[in-house]
Amino acid sequence: MMQSNLLRGEKVRLTAVTQSDLPTLSQWWADADFLRLYDSVPAYPKTEAQLAKRVEEGQQGETTFLFGIRPLTGGALIGLLELDGVMWTHGTTFVSIAIGDKENRGKGYGREAMQLGLDFAFRELNLHRVCLTVFSYNEAAIKLYEGLGFVREGVYREHLQRDGRRYDMILFGLLRAEWQKSDNQYKSPIKRTASR
Ligand SMILES: CC(C)(COP(=O)(O)OP(=O)(O)OC[C@H]1O[C@@H](n2cnc3c(N)ncnc32)[C@H](O)[C@@H]1OP(=O)(O)O)[C@@H](O)C(=O)NCCC(=O)NCCS
Repeated sequence: MMQSNLLRGEKVRLTAVTQSDLPTLSQWWADADFLRLYDSVPAYPKTEAQLAKRVEEGQQGETTFLFGIRPLTGGALIGLLELDGVMWTHGTTFVSIAIGDKENRGKGYGREAMQLGLDFAFRELNLHRVCLTVFSYNEAAIKLYEGLGFVREGVYREHLQRDGRRYDMILFGLLRAEWQKSDNQYKSPIKRTASR
């Protein structure tokens, strides 16, 4: 029997986002520091109803795949991972990730969740290319992507303005062949036996 452990790592798992997560999401969306790392739209709180709509759209599973990141044990939502803008014709997608509370960052959750997200993109959706954009001031995120083998492909120069300063936005991409060769894939004993 094929065993994959596709959505499950050693620290976190990728799950659905449900109605009961909305209060947690609305706390994250009330945190301007979080919003300024995560998105280029104005840092502006969202209601639970607005977030419910966003979650529903994100989970449609045709061109977007939104996951809740949770620890292996317990149901607490600690982050979001989303593949969006999937273009089936070309086998490409964007990916984004967030660990909501500051206390949960820097503990390896983001790295493992992104590895699981890449596994899903390349091994389940059979995509060819995953890309993302990140703001030049987001050092933690840049370290994460570089550490996972994403290639810095280009710069949207002076793309953002915040607090009176302009900042670049950087484009990173990872091709299937690079992911296959990379030492940064999520590896579990079970996965080693699953066919790629
Ligand atoms: C970016 C983010 C997802 C990283 O997740 P995380 O769980 O904090 O990161 P991890 O603990 O898995 O660490 C991943 C790498 O980043 C490095 N890192 C983590 N926090 C860092 C920090 N504050 N400064 C510099 N490097 C940092 C780690 O050392 C690690 O590098 P390594 O693999 O070479 O050891 C998380 O910080 C976050 O959600 N931030 C807010 C939202 C956001 O910025 N989303 C990304 C938008 S592009």
